[in-house]
Amino acid sequence: MGSMLRSVPGTFDLLPQGQPLSEPAFRAIVQAAEAVLQASGAIPVATPILEYAELFQRGVGVTSDIVVRKEMYTLSDRGERLLALRPEPTAALVRAYHEHGMKVWPQPVRLYTYGPIFRAERHQRGRYRQFHQIDYEALGLSDPLLDAEAIALMVRIYQHLGLRQLEVRLASLGDPADRQRYNAYLRELLAPHAERLSPESQSRLELNPLRILDSKSDTDQALLEELSPEPLSAFLGPAAQAFQEAVERYLKALGIPFVYDPKLVRGLDYYVRTAWEVHHQGVGAKSALGGGGRYDGLSEMLGAGPLPGVGFGIGIERLALALSQEGWSPPAPPRPDLIVAPLDDEARLEALRLAEALRPEIRVELLYTPRAPGKALEEALKRKARFIAFLGSEERAKGELTLRDLDRGEQRSLSLSQLREHLAVTHQA
Ligand code: HAM
Repeated sequence: MGSMLRSVPGTFDLLPQGQPLSEPAFRAIVQAAEAVLQASGAIPVATPILEYAELFQRGVGVTSDIVVRKEMYTLSDRGERLLALRPEPTAALVRAYHEHGMKVWPQPVRLYTYGPIFRAERHQRGRYRQFHQIDYEALGLSDPLLDAEAIALMVRIYQHLGLRQLEVRLASLGDPADRQRYNAYLRELLAPHAERLSPESQSRLELNPLRILDSKSDTDQALLEELSPEPLSAFLGPAAQAFQEAVERYLKALGIPFVYDPKLVRGLDYYVRTAWEVHHQGVGAKSALGGGGRYDGLSEMLGAGPLPGVGFGIGIERLALALSQEGWSPPAPPRPDLIVAPLDDEARLEALRLAEALRPEIRVELLYTPRAPGKALEEALKRKARFIAFLGSEERAKGELTLRDLDRGEQRSLSLSQLREHLAVTHQA
């Protein structure tokens, strides 16, 4: 097949069935998330997939994976400013908050969105170039109650889908000053061994050595084991410490299990204080099902005034993978209520008119090409329909149609109004 007829590696079609994500699984996951988020009063919004590249270059940070690994898809806007396919939604929602003056709305403004996200990563199982996230952000208030609520909402979404084996890993990344002190400590510890670090970690040594802690390179991890640096938690100032204790206390009060993970650092630079990830065995130790945290400095990184925020992103593909490993499958599409079968050419338009008259209250599908009643019946059984209506010359002569109840094996002649009544009753039952 010509490459023109193939999807781009790391991208995929959403089909009735299939990997890594089917359309019904996508829909079921989004519906479950929306049920939980809407019940919390979060407001659904959508932002464009295209944004100015600068928003993310500044937003996600120069030492984030997205920037370090050049994962952002950029394109020039007819020679004007550089655009990007969004590599994450958080910076875009902060942009939207400022652009639309949401600071005059009641605070905090709690938003959610879902849709495609783009990262030029090396694709593998659970890692795609176009993937999908459900994203929640609470903007305008720096209060540990919001962090605990965000974590709780995230866990409820997974639970609402029936996912069992989740693990919430929680940490505090401290305030910027705490992190500066910790980074200085790490730099001093690691610099004498710099030549043993992977190239990526070497490049992070200067700007953000914290990120070396979650390096995926075995040699980096061996060095860390040898040097066994103190955890970031030992460097938290009193304010970050108190904030973290509050988040943990609230989570305990809510009965949300979590583990404290001193190695958790997250792949984006904007986090302060609370950071967390949700993991699942079936997805692999290195890949999170979802992650989130507080980003009180992001708005200023974008050149706007201060705007505290906390939120999370759920990877829909990885969630589908975890669910299917636990034996879940999305609900099957509903069976058709009625199949309309024209028995001759003349009945074709009549069949379409009948379908039109009954939709959308009744799920009606057509057989477009006339065929013998036996063949039509076979087709209706294959589609698991409840009823089939035959339209042919006899029916035309009487101004009626023949309706067969496929569950009961009964057949009768009906007028259109009788049919509508009959179907409405069985449809409700
Ligand atoms: P993130 O950790 O970069 O955070 O992504 C969130 C989730 O998206 C991941 O845990 C994972 O499930 C999924 N994900 C990320 N990259 C890929 C990929 N290449 N293929 C498949 N799934 C992927 C954020 O994006 C933050 N904006 C989350 C956030 C919201 N923080 C605060 N508010």
